[in-house]
Amino acid sequence: MCGIVCYVGRKPAKPILLEGLKRLEYRGYDSAGLAVQDGETIHCERAVGKIVELERRVNGLEMKGTVGIAHTRWATHGRPSEENAHPQRDRDENVFVIHNGIIENYHVLKKKLEKDGIVFRSETDTEVLAHLIALHFDGDLSDAVRKTMAQVEGTFGIGVIHRQTPGQIVVARRGSPLIIGVSDDGHFVASDVSAMVRYTNKVVHLEENELATVTADGFSISTAQAKPVQRSTETVEWRAEDAELNGFPHFMLKEIYEQPAALENAIRGRLEQGEGVPKLGGIMPVWESLKQSRHMVLVACGTSYYAASVGKYIFERLTEIDTEVGLASEFRYRKLNFPPNTFVVAISQSGETADTLAAIKEAKRKGARLIGVVNVVGSSISRETEAGIYNHAGPEIGVASTKNFTSQLTILTLLALLLGRHQNLSLTEGIQAIRALEALPGLIHKALAQANHIEAVSEKYCRCTNWLFLGRKYNYPIALEGALKLKEVSYIHAEGYAAGEMKHGPIALINPEMPTVAIIPLDEMHEKMLSNIHEIKSRKGPVIAIATEGDEKVRDVADDIIEIPPTLDFLYPILTVIPCQLLAYYCAKFLNRDIDKPRNLAKSVTVE
Ligand code: AGP
Ligand code: GLU
Repeated sequence: MCGIVCYVGRKPAKPILLEGLKRLEYRGYDSAGLAVQDGETIHCERAVGKIVELERRVNGLEMKGTVGIAHTRWATHGRPSEENAHPQRDRDENVFVIHNGIIENYHVLKKKLEKDGIVFRSETDTEVLAHLIALHFDGDLSDAVRKTMAQVEGTFGIGVIHRQTPGQIVVARRGSPLIIGVSDDGHFVASDVSAMVRYTNKVVHLEENELATVTADGFSISTAQAKPVQRSTETVEWRAEDAELNGFPHFMLKEIYEQPAALENAIRGRLEQGEGVPKLGGIMPVWESLKQSRHMVLVACGTSYYAASVGKYIFERLTEIDTEVGLASEFRYRKLNFPPNTFVVAISQSGETADTLAAIKEAKRKGARLIGVVNVVGSSISRETEAGIYNHAGPEIGVASTKNFTSQLTILTLLALLLGRHQNLSLTEGIQAIRALEALPGLIHKALAQANHIEAVSEKYCRCTNWLFLGRKYNYPIALEGALKLKEVSYIHAEGYAAGEMKHGPIALINPEMPTVAIIPLDEMHEKMLSNIHEIKSRKGPVIAIATEGDEKVRDVADDIIEIPPTLDFLYPILTVIPCQLLAYYCAKFLNRDIDKPRNLAKSVTVE
């Protein structure tokens, strides 16, 4: 979902900008461009398609200069084309602007500018920014940007350069994140830290409606009302190699294999054996209210919503809290009547998903308390919520979420365990849960050891054009997630279903060409799942069973079995999802899909 990279320093800007764009590719885009400034000369190039097209365009060109702005576009207004790609310019080509977001009132602004004789060259909403900044410019670029911000409605993260202000970039944000990176080689500004992580891990987050003027030697932040802001740098945990493939063929596979480490990061310093009570420092600001709360709503989108759905069962299992789960894109339109002291938990890997952000703003408006479970430190959702728990899963580059999903399940289990141990959960149960959590990274390694077998199973069924995933209770959301993973990366149609609903319709679909993935760990739903498998087999449907190792009953009836080690019932989803992830990955591989950047998808959906 589009990306911004800016650099101002002492090194040639072009290679730094191109590398930064490549690190943002995972966010999804349709075109790209950059502009490099040397004194009062600005050289701008843009191209439709992948970054490699832009590279082809600029490789032979000098594009001298140590200041530049670059952008990957995910079109919202105007088709993907070179003319609509960013940077967008004013008519005299003094102002060059890159923009993430949507200018909601651009029609009105455009009409007025056209009436004043301005001729537009693109179909984008962004172009109005270039013309307005040019009109307001009287030598002070940040002042011109500030005046433009006052006229604009909608969301923006922008980077601006002007011929007459060499050596500086002005950036501003409203609803679309911008991070300033501080290094000895100069200063960076980007929409996310992965674009600069090779050069620095010292960052400063711009807050809503703030601007910054950035030069090689420093930066100054101010509000939309021109009030200076002092903000110290933070250190992000991510390192350059986190955003490298490190020998894996795809980020998705790398991140599937990073899950043991991701879980270790999720529990590190948070498990206290003796009392069977986790420690979650991030929610201490709201703890006195939270521990009294008996109403909770887990809100998210996509895979994070399926994590929330498992979370609902876990909260019911471990706490006395009435727990609801809400699809963020629907939740925000509901008539919300929260009981007193309701907590809404926003779950989001990127922390930038527009629907989730909008949902929690609505929840806040209706009186709910807000907590975040977020992976990206300093992201919008982490700043919108009162308190929260970071996943510490490291950057998740593959569009299909894998390691962050199991990390989310772990974090939700920790939260439920902490609350439960202040309600009716016994010391023994608490210690048992903590011991089981500590064992999980090792169990994931065992589940991953089935990869070669899963690859063979994928090759057997990857030509089937319809799949069914079935699960019950904790594993019903895993059926949904397994289907989503397969759809996302292999483009095979798949449906996740509550196994108990088979007889109410989907059983009509069963046929020899449609494999069913039956998620059947040794938990309380085992016998009912076994009946489902028999129902499918009796109608000649092939069954791929995900079962606890040594389960001979399942082995005797399923066509293919993928084994996982035993664990506690509410922890099984962290293991049953692993084969689903690998099935999706290998099917996509056999079908030669663009696994890390599936068609039409973006890593972070920052538009509604
Ligand atoms: C999951 O594989 C997808 N990439 C997508 O469904 C994703 O989970 C969803 O867009 C939510 O993203 P978030 O966790 O960053 O909010
Ligand atoms: N709304 C702008 C456009 O369509 C920016 C889109 C984006 O965020 O990439 O060009």
